[in-house]
Amino acid sequence: MSTRTHRAEIGVIGGSGFYELLTGAEHIEVTTPYGEPSHPLAVGDVGGRRVAFLPRHGADHRFPPHRINYRANLWALRSLGVRRILAPCAVGSLRPELGPGSLVVPDQIVDRTSGRIQTYYDTGAVHVPFADPYCQEGRTAVLKSASSLGAEAHDGGTMVVVEGPRFSSRAESQWYAAAGWSLINMTGHPEAVLARELALCYTAVALVTDHDAGVQQGESVDQETVFRVFRANIDRLRDVIVGAARLLPEDRTCPCATALEGLSLPFELP
Ligand code: ADE
Repeated sequence: MSTRTHRAEIGVIGGSGFYELLTGAEHIEVTTPYGEPSHPLAVGDVGGRRVAFLPRHGADHRFPPHRINYRANLWALRSLGVRRILAPCAVGSLRPELGPGSLVVPDQIVDRTSGRIQTYYDTGAVHVPFADPYCQEGRTAVLKSASSLGAEAHDGGTMVVVEGPRFSSRAESQWYAAAGWSLINMTGHPEAVLARELALCYTAVALVTDHDAGVQQGESVDQETVFRVFRANIDRLRDVIVGAARLLPEDRTCPCATALEGLSLPFELP
């Protein structure tokens, strides 16, 4: 399983409607102590780098956000050698100025999920720092990639992650907007924190598919819109991801790489 051709340094976790990145790549079945990842991992070359691609929801979107095995997904990627993750995702906008089609590289997250397994560390004292949930080196690579393609990407924003699978009520949406948050999604948590718990760099790349309920008078959101708008923007998003893979520094000098230093782990990382 871990021959060189099956190794990768960068992982891309595709979101709703982002089921493929590499054509003709080899698919690798990886088992983990946490069960099966959403799909076998596709490993190949992207932008001159070894990349493992994993569709978060499964290739046929069989796993809704609250049923994704996030722990298995991140463990599987790390076990192939992945240390940096680019995580494209569909998001709703909580800001009138961020319309459908906008690309945003968030810098903060708020967890409003409930009942999801959100840690690898059920014994001992392993408390990872999470003040800055996203990798700054990854964020810089994505922003540079977008700018070199002439694709405007917004630098920063807080993404609130809700349990779903339903969309938010108008009152919930207005509440999140009033709190100053800019994006809403259903998968960003616990993906980001589990990546940090494995000392992986994690960068969310958010594509706005809708104005969530309540931002504009009378506006609301449905599933068909989310999928349609995501599909309409998938080529641009893929180009930004490929460019970012090329631009990511090979050596990690960010705090994500040392997030576990000095902590006594109850098991060895893959
Ligand atoms: N994903 C895309 N749009 C969304 C929304 N409005 N709420 C939650 N998740 C989303």
